[in-house]
Amino acid sequence: MASLKLTINNQPYTVDVDPDMPLLWAIRDVVGLTGTKFGCGIAQCGACTVHLDGSPIRSCSFPISAAAGHKITTIEGLSKNGDHPMQKAWVAHQVPQCGYCQSGQIMSAVALLKQTPKPTDADIDAAMQGNICRCGTYNRIRQAIHTASTEMTTAPKMPKSTPKIGKR
Ligand code: FES
Ligand code: FES
Repeated sequence: MASLKLTINNQPYTVDVDPDMPLLWAIRDVVGLTGTKFGCGIAQCGACTVHLDGSPIRSCSFPISAAAGHKITTIEGLSKNGDHPMQKAWVAHQVPQCGYCQSGQIMSAVALLKQTPKPTDADIDAAMQGNICRCGTYNRIRQAIHTASTEMTTAPKMPKSTPKIGKR
């Protein structure tokens, strides 16, 4: 057993665990953040995707000792009210079917837009190929990523006219 300090969604945690424990176990069972899912357990499906210092990792196959001292972000940490542009795009396109893979999909999609703010379909397919969806929501995932990309790369519109302040 080891006492490890983790930073998850900007919150500090100290966990007493086996240092070889997969990070996913600590996130779900020790810390209690259950938005990240267990799928295959062998880094093949992407359901367990979280960010480590902003990059996507498969938390089912990542030892917790290697995560100590790094910034971990889970789906719960993307936004306070579920209103990250990617989450809003997911809702707008009604992406999920059973939903099981979706937190991992969103975490991979957010990481993609950090690297490639305006991805092509080919960029999306390449970045998302490790995230498996048994329900086949891939087309809607692609559309949602394009929508979030537009939202995140378009400057806020200025008002057409500025109200005049002063003497009447
Ligand atoms: S549960 Fe981690 S990749 Fe499948
Ligand atoms: S929505 Fe069911 S596995 Fe992806």
